Amino acid sequence: MAFDLVLFGGTGDLVWRKLMPALFQAYRHGTLPPGGRIIGVARDGLDDAAFRSLIETRLAQVELAKRPSADEFAGFAQLLHYLRVDLSKPADYLALADVLNAREVDARVLYLATAPSLFTTVCQQLVACGLNQAHTPNDTRIVLEKPLGHDLASNRAINEVVRAGFAEKQIFRIDHYLGKPSVQNLFAMRFGNALFEPLWRRETIANIQITIAEELGVEKRGGFYDQTGALRDMVQNHALQLLCAIGMEPPINAHADAIRDEKLKVLRSLKPWTPHTLAQHVVRGQYIAGGFNGEAMPAYRDEPGVDPNSHTETFVALRTEIANWRWAGVPFYIRTGKRLAAREAHIAVNFRPTPHAIFKSPLGAANRLVIHLQPKDGLTLHLFAQGQDKRGPASFGAGQSLAPVQLDLDFDKRFGSERVGAYERLLLDVIEGRLNLFVRSDEQEEAWRWVEPVMRHWKDSGDEGLKPYAAGTWGPSAASAMIARDGHSWSEES
Ligand code: BG6
Repeated sequence: MAFDLVLFGGTGDLVWRKLMPALFQAYRHGTLPPGGRIIGVARDGLDDAAFRSLIETRLAQVELAKRPSADEFAGFAQLLHYLRVDLSKPADYLALADVLNAREVDARVLYLATAPSLFTTVCQQLVACGLNQAHTPNDTRIVLEKPLGHDLASNRAINEVVRAGFAEKQIFRIDHYLGKPSVQNLFAMRFGNALFEPLWRRETIANIQITIAEELGVEKRGGFYDQTGALRDMVQNHALQLLCAIGMEPPINAHADAIRDEKLKVLRSLKPWTPHTLAQHVVRGQYIAGGFNGEAMPAYRDEPGVDPNSHTETFVALRTEIANWRWAGVPFYIRTGKRLAAREAHIAVNFRPTPHAIFKSPLGAANRLVIHLQPKDGLTLHLFAQGQDKRGPASFGAGQSLAPVQLDLDFDKRFGSERVGAYERLLLDVIEGRLNLFVRSDEQEEAWRWVEPVMRHWKDSGDEGLKPYAAGTWGPSAASAMIARDGHSWSEES
């Protein structure tokens, strides 16, 4: 299958950090279709040889097991090409069109790994020189990285320009969380087993908690992050996609639109914000200096590129509900932040206690299913079992105490740690034209519509309500207080 994968922003951060390592892994695994060209497009004055040597340097830095041997790189390098293009110059697009039109391909992929501010210009230029069509429009795909806009209006403006030149089925909007094996596993677990379905509802589930915690700070992206914040960077996309995956109805089949229709329904059912919920059900925080394992960490406001008086949130915790028959009244809590105590993403499904207790009330949390997304990929089912004392198991009967036990399933162990990474999966899907793991424009718009009142509320209140938390902790205590008001606690606190 011949393909051309054109990477706009070909010498940029995303290509460097994520795309090239992923493409090399696909090449190594033999899943990258043969007959492809990967064409880096950027302003730098490079040629093929210089581009190849740049990528060789990059691949020599990845973790040892993923580094190419000299022979492997020599093979991979044959796919790599470079074209100098100034994205503001129409003539340069025509030169690109000449290169691309000189060869027949089965798929042409135009990957916008540029600054989001360039999306509309690049897209208009691509259309102007006919690059939105190869043989039939379906052969050409455009890939858009997040963030797609910074609010509903800007998101719509970008989508309108893109849709003027490309049909929806040609547009691949990336949310890399959907490419993670653990997130695909979540769909497999819910819709490949009949076991969960009868339990997956308000009658049995007390609350659901989605945590995406990062140990890292803003690294070298201070300037970008300061304009973005945790709500736009993580909640509007990754966290809401996880909420959809956990809360959606079973789709009628596994086709892209059937899945996306169900996710859209969840987003549409999210309870609208009110002045009360904006005040009581959202917590935003910003990290101050702290430390982790003896390592001192600076405050967010002291990070390079960040405004020393910044009001940008590096932490968000919120409570929402999916207002439909299945979920009415069940709180869904979302929590995400930078410089937290651990890198840890999981979804905790807390079941209701037994309707009538015949055993002594035990300590610790049970009746909970934890879906681990990262760093571990697995499931833990917390249950109560018969307690033990020094004389052996207590006999069944009144006064007996229960002990918490866990059933633990480790997917990395079961399937091997060599599972296909998120970007590798998504790049292969784009090349082969599979849309299941990509986000449709109406999903994105609905997610923006839902977060906008929160953004406006924060804008109006300045830094009032912005809670400090020490780097290396689990965020501001207000987040624990918020969930405690409902009589619950965050999964790591219980
Ligand atoms: C990105 C955000 O989308 O996701 C980053 O822009 C964040 O700020 C990253 O660090 C987290 O991704 P992962 O795969 O490391 O959990």
